[in-house]
Amino acid sequence: MSKSKIKYICSNCAYESVRWLGKCPECDSWNSFTEELIETGRRKSFKVPQKVSFHKITEITATEEDRIKTGITEFDRVLGGGLMPGSVVLLGGDPGIGKSTLAMQASANIKNKVLYVTGEESEKQIKLRSSRLKITSDEFYVLAETELGQIIASINNLDPAVVIIDSIQTMYRSELENSPGTITQIRECTSLLMEEAKKKNYSVIIIGHVTKEGMIAGPKLLEHIVDTVIQFEGESNHSFRILRAQKNRFGSTNEIGVFEMHEVGLREVTNPSELFLSEREKQTPGSVITSSMEGTRPILLEVQALVTPSNYGYPQRVSTGFDQRRLSILLAVLEKRANIRVSSANVFLNMAGGLRIQEPAVDLAVCISTAASLLNRVVDNQTVVIGEVGLGGEIRSVGNIEKRIQEAEKLGFTRAIIPSGNEKGIKSSGKLKIAFVENLSQAVELTIGRNT
Ligand code: TYD
Ligand code: MG
Repeated sequence: MSKSKIKYICSNCAYESVRWLGKCPECDSWNSFTEELIETGRRKSFKVPQKVSFHKITEITATEEDRIKTGITEFDRVLGGGLMPGSVVLLGGDPGIGKSTLAMQASANIKNKVLYVTGEESEKQIKLRSSRLKITSDEFYVLAETELGQIIASINNLDPAVVIIDSIQTMYRSELENSPGTITQIRECTSLLMEEAKKKNYSVIIIGHVTKEGMIAGPKLLEHIVDTVIQFEGESNHSFRILRAQKNRFGSTNEIGVFEMHEVGLREVTNPSELFLSEREKQTPGSVITSSMEGTRPILLEVQALVTPSNYGYPQRVSTGFDQRRLSILLAVLEKRANIRVSSANVFLNMAGGLRIQEPAVDLAVCISTAASLLNRVVDNQTVVIGEVGLGGEIRSVGNIEKRIQEAEKLGFTRAIIPSGNEKGIKSSGKLKIAFVENLSQAVELTIGRNT
């Protein structure tokens, strides 16, 4: 009989403690400890096995062609060109964002057998969804089961190329006493799936729900175990969904995939710029178009600022899709270097379309849109504004300027304001007029006129 006792584990970094702690001494996260049953039976003694096997690297065959294409280009790109056989992908996201839908649509085009293991919905519910998504694949199998032993047995029986586990929070191993959804179960289930996938060479997509704090509930620890972690993001009031790789052993983590949720499932957005610009109001003060590199693709998007007088002593700074601290810095630069008085005003900033931008190349657009809203001036909506803003008010050069300019030209923009440091990287092209700027005041003057 194995004995067990209760321990507390940090759901962020797996630090173990004998009592509950409010703050984790290892990773400093608050309120992250959960109660877990730990088996304390005697460990088996260590034995060195007699038989071992290894191979010369020249004898092992593996090519990029082995990847399994899901046929959904945006998904395949984020994966690094398709699913790698024997790999485990963690697909995380808020409940209701569309993870099951995406996984099901991705399975529909795979030529080989796919086993969809559902712990959340019944076979009938899966059937209803598949009818809605018009899935007719003959190689799509469904298993409603949550006990991992049974699942592994079914996998061995069916011999699929891809297995989908929906979701990891509902799965359990019967030899453990912990209930499903606990850290121990999630970790042990994933480790076993990982081991089996590598042994039998099938790919596994594990679906995991994310908690409000942005952690994949418990499975934050899974990030270390699995090969690839992709996150499905979006705002519930927007139909756009963005797929982002956070870790990828078989590809880059810069690529994003853009989707739109429709009545009949997710639709790929192959030209995101068009989508993010489509709702832009004609010529409103405070709206500026900029370009952000998302992986290898430049995406044009609209930055919106609303500046209002503050009636209280302490003005508000609220940003959606942009780092709040970065916004504060840019506002200080704007005030000090370009003489735009924003210190006593409320500033609300929004990246239209629900995008989250981390690239400094949008700095200049943030400054210009704020200045434009404050002074109630309009920036021509055929102009794109690109540049990083330094603390001295200088405009610093950005990467991939050629690509950004090409994209702007393709979408019919007529003018681009870019850092003078990028002048060398640019071959002059006909339709798009380019203005180079060295500092913030210059950029303000070029876009909204003299600050008087
Ligand atoms: P779902 O894939 O069940 O989300 P998750 O698995 O991440 O919890 O998607 C649920 C949402 O998507 C739900 O609000 C309904 C919506 N939806 C559509 O709008 N169109 C569709 O074709 C489908 C299948 C779902
Ligand atoms: Mg689901």
